[in-house]
Amino acid sequence: MTNTQETGIREIAQLGAPVLRLQAQPVSDIASAETRQLITAMQATLATTAGVGLAAPQIGVSQRVIIVASKPTARYPKAPLMEPTIMLNPAFKPLSDTKEKDWEGCLSVPGIRALVPRFREIMIHYSDEQGNSVETRLEGFVARVFQHEFDHLEGMVYLDRVEDNADIVAESEYFKILNSA
Ligand code: NI
Repeated sequence: MTNTQETGIREIAQLGAPVLRLQAQPVSDIASAETRQLITAMQATLATTAGVGLAAPQIGVSQRVIIVASKPTARYPKAPLMEPTIMLNPAFKPLSDTKEKDWEGCLSVPGIRALVPRFREIMIHYSDEQGNSVETRLEGFVARVFQHEFDHLEGMVYLDRVEDNADIVAESEYFKILNSA
């Protein structure tokens, strides 16, 4: 994998790369230089994309680190604009059994969108960059982004959760669906 040392920007692993299918390892030393470098690389890489989240395995590092970075998009004009949030060793539990299907894409699966069922309301837990333990409740779009990124740490991609192959579409068709909605 080509890495740009000066900027931290990395290549994004594409579907089929073995790293996307590994169970990622917990971060044991949040203050280490390696962890700092990983976080910097993830931030720099995500900033070059239109993505709303990124998981460490997507830049080839099988560690339990995600960024959740909700912002308004064509599909989710009311999605909250938030500071990209780094979450180390994240965990969650659903607050109800209710799932909603909505469209997702992934930087590791270009050109494709699909309808994915996700829990609507979740309680999450993670360590922040300073090692503080954070617990908070997420719902809707932000909860969806979290669950998508969390799956990357379990070696899963969103296509694994699609219930019907007919729910998988080319990005060009997805934009037609959006414009006709
Ligand atoms: Ni993804």
